[in-house]
Amino acid sequence: MQTLSDLYPSHIIEMQKRTKEALLREGIDGLIIHSGQSKRMFLDDNHYPFHVNPQFKSWLPIIDNPNCWLVVNGVDKPKLIFYRPKDFWHKVPPEPSDFWATEFDIVLLTQADAVEKHLPYDKKNYAYIGEYLEVATALGFEMVNPDRVLHYLHYYRAYKTDYELLCMREANQLAVKGHLAAEQAFRSGMSEFNINQAYLKAVKQSDNQVPYNNIVALNENAAILHYMEQDTAAPTKSRSFLIDAGASFHGYAADITRTYSQQDDRFAELVAAMDEVTLKLVDLLKPGVAYTEVHLAAHKYIAELLSHFNIVNLSAQDIVENGITKTFFPHGIGHFLGLQVHDVAGHVADDRGTPNPPPEDHPFLRTTRIIESRQVFTIEPGLYFIDSLLADLRATEQSKYLNWDVIDGFRPYGGIRIEDNIIVHRDRNENMTREMGLN
Ligand code: GLY
Ligand code: MN
Ligand code: MN
Repeated sequence: MQTLSDLYPSHIIEMQKRTKEALLREGIDGLIIHSGQSKRMFLDDNHYPFHVNPQFKSWLPIIDNPNCWLVVNGVDKPKLIFYRPKDFWHKVPPEPSDFWATEFDIVLLTQADAVEKHLPYDKKNYAYIGEYLEVATALGFEMVNPDRVLHYLHYYRAYKTDYELLCMREANQLAVKGHLAAEQAFRSGMSEFNINQAYLKAVKQSDNQVPYNNIVALNENAAILHYMEQDTAAPTKSRSFLIDAGASFHGYAADITRTYSQQDDRFAELVAAMDEVTLKLVDLLKPGVAYTEVHLAAHKYIAELLSHFNIVNLSAQDIVENGITKTFFPHGIGHFLGLQVHDVAGHVADDRGTPNPPPEDHPFLRTTRIIESRQVFTIEPGLYFIDSLLADLRATEQSKYLNWDVIDGFRPYGGIRIEDNIIVHRDRNENMTREMGLN
């Protein structure tokens, strides 16, 4: 079994290769990549949680240290300017000695504003990559986040190195522990707040360390796609539970959703049917297939359920053709996953960033790329009973095709989403979420 330290040198070789090619194309001498800065709140002396520049963490797993810099040109050994202040207020990170450290020439920086002496003197042909444009200007950079370089790097970030795939498996393994704990907490009747605590405890990550805000929704709240509240009171009757929650590992994200029914009822049957839909869609991921095809297949499978469960009195084909599935499944089937939860470059046709937007009638689809090996996707079909969308549908001609009493029976359960994380290999798919033991 290969370890992170076995795999990391090849990751750096790949990063160097991509950087060299991006620079060659644009005639640039090097990239100066800024990890970021700690951001102070307006009129306050508190700081927001630090979130590192994804371009920085694509090189190495430093995710919690602002004021660090990378100097890279794709040929020379990358230089890491590592921030290590004298500070008795905060924890000072130790000198780097992890598995990644030997891949860098490391200099220590004790004062954030003293970085200039470690950067190339003439910056005319170097590009600043980062968020702080005023810092770039003050340091004398003329080139800031050049579009074409970013397009190139973003495009290839879709192909994960073996090191990255291992990090993503680790992130899935952590998130699966959280999901198992959360299900138990739900079964014992806990509040949304307490279920989330059980999740975080099992994952051993804080709210600020997980890769996105967990969605922990009981009953009707499961119909709110981005439900961010966490009710501290347990409901009198806990019918259903939707949890969309991830975990981070070395800067890579897991993004998993499960839905449960408390009883063995009709909603439980619908959940089981949706689980099969997720697995059937995962099987459609294949090198050479357009991801958009998987999204369109999701509409077909969901239409079959709407027909089978007597929610809509039409054949599956007619349900899709009448656009009715969009009321129940209003989002995209998934997205690239990696250093960012919604990873970059889903809507481009090539490494120059030529736009490849989603179909007009499916604007929320986040990826239109052709599926290839080494790519990592989520597959996350949903079926929700959303009052506002149902009201819109009820006001149309189509209303007569819907069994409103059946729909009213499902409304108190909110909805269903089942989301897995999948690596596409040349000859098979690796459903990390299932292989880590979450069914
Ligand atoms: N958790 C965000 C998403 O599923 O895309
Ligand atoms: Mn999710
Ligand atoms: Mn997702």
